[in-house]
Amino acid sequence: MTHVTQEKWSSGMAFLLAAIGSAVGLGNIYRFPYIVGQNGGGAFVLLYLGVVLFFGIPLIMTELTIGRRRQLPPIAAYGALAEGMKSRPFWKLIGFTNIMTPIGILGFYFVIAGWTLNYVYSMITGQLSNLVEGQTQTVFAEMMNSPVTLIFWMTLAVLITAFIISRGIKAGLEKAVNVLMPMLFFILVLLVIYSLFNGGIVETFKFMFYPDFSKITGETVLEATGQAFFSLSLGSATMMVYGSYLPKNESIPKLACGVAFADTFVALIAGFAVFPIIFTNGLDLDSGPNLVFVTLPVIFDQMPFGQVFGILFFMLLAFAAITSTISLFEPTVSTLEEKGICSRPVASLFAGIGLWCLAGLSALSMNVLSDVRLLTFTETVAGKNIMDLLEYMSANAMMLFNTLFAGIFIGWMMNRKDVLEEIGLGDSLLFKFWLTIIRFVVPVVVGYLIYAFFAGKLSS
Ligand code: TRP
Repeated sequence: MTHVTQEKWSSGMAFLLAAIGSAVGLGNIYRFPYIVGQNGGGAFVLLYLGVVLFFGIPLIMTELTIGRRRQLPPIAAYGALAEGMKSRPFWKLIGFTNIMTPIGILGFYFVIAGWTLNYVYSMITGQLSNLVEGQTQTVFAEMMNSPVTLIFWMTLAVLITAFIISRGIKAGLEKAVNVLMPMLFFILVLLVIYSLFNGGIVETFKFMFYPDFSKITGETVLEATGQAFFSLSLGSATMMVYGSYLPKNESIPKLACGVAFADTFVALIAGFAVFPIIFTNGLDLDSGPNLVFVTLPVIFDQMPFGQVFGILFFMLLAFAAITSTISLFEPTVSTLEEKGICSRPVASLFAGIGLWCLAGLSALSMNVLSDVRLLTFTETVAGKNIMDLLEYMSANAMMLFNTLFAGIFIGWMMNRKDVLEEIGLGDSLLFKFWLTIIRFVVPVVVGYLIYAFFAGKLSS
């Protein structure tokens, strides 16, 4: 039951923009700087780069291949590729867990995307100007305590995303990234130029690139891997689905490198936009999740052209978030459409309503539902409200689980001729290197991470 009319990207470039749009998100601009700050800088950055190079790129290639081989979304793709295998039902189940993961991620991601929209608005209307010390904390806390505010902005994020998705690949996704991505890069460049003129660049350089290896612990390694996988949109159907729309003549290894390079570049540049402000103002490097929403607005309020800078910064975050929510939303719609359950617009509507409910629960879990615990089977999960639990399960556990099995499937189960043809490197040394990483290194490392995760060695 192959879906015959499945749309394709109009070119490799169109795919690249959309995939970079997916990868570049809150993970790069919101999370990366604060995680680097918390983990002591250079050594963490170096580790991160190693993970992207040795695991990230090979795994993007893996997921694109699984998607493109039969040009189907995950459940159908695994089902078709596992045809004739005894373990076929298991692989279809893996396809299903792949689909569920972006749903879980959107459950919290939509809420944060809403914060960014709210902050753009607050910046423009001057609600974050002329604040006295400590007041940005109050503004942030007021937002978190207000179900109406949180749900209003989250709803806007859901509506924008569902609308874009409902229009299809070329008229929806491509058009959106064609507008949003150039603006995103433009703003990023402006912000860095501004930083260059305001000092703190030398300190930033030292902090980000001078490794102090005493800062590396087992946990840092886990943290760097989790961050890299999340930032590269791995382990959650996105790359498989985007790969399924990729024309057959485009080179998967080249595109995978392009996505990884751009994503990593933006994360590093985001560091260069944020850290100079921290250094020149003598702020705390490890303020964690508060960094962007509480610490930075204080500075925007004080520096020359701070309001303009602030508006641009939060617009950047909002654009990055929306191109990512699109990619997290698409797998569900693609699956419903392929199964012939409903048309794309109807699928977008239903998925939108479902995700709105889930994200609504997340939003409420920071105020009225803050005491609700859905799972209590370990001490770690028992401490988490709904939003934190969704993040913990989807962005950590399920993502690792899906990547592990994607690696095992392509490395050990799939027909080698199919893999060779799809990767398009011939039976070269490079191909063998890739295959070795996928067959041996990924299962051991990711398998260990999953173990460490459940043994409670991984925080957050
Ligand atoms: N990579 C995005 C970010 O850094 C988030 C994202 C989009 C994602 N699609 C994904 C994460 C798929 C995991 C899986 O913000």
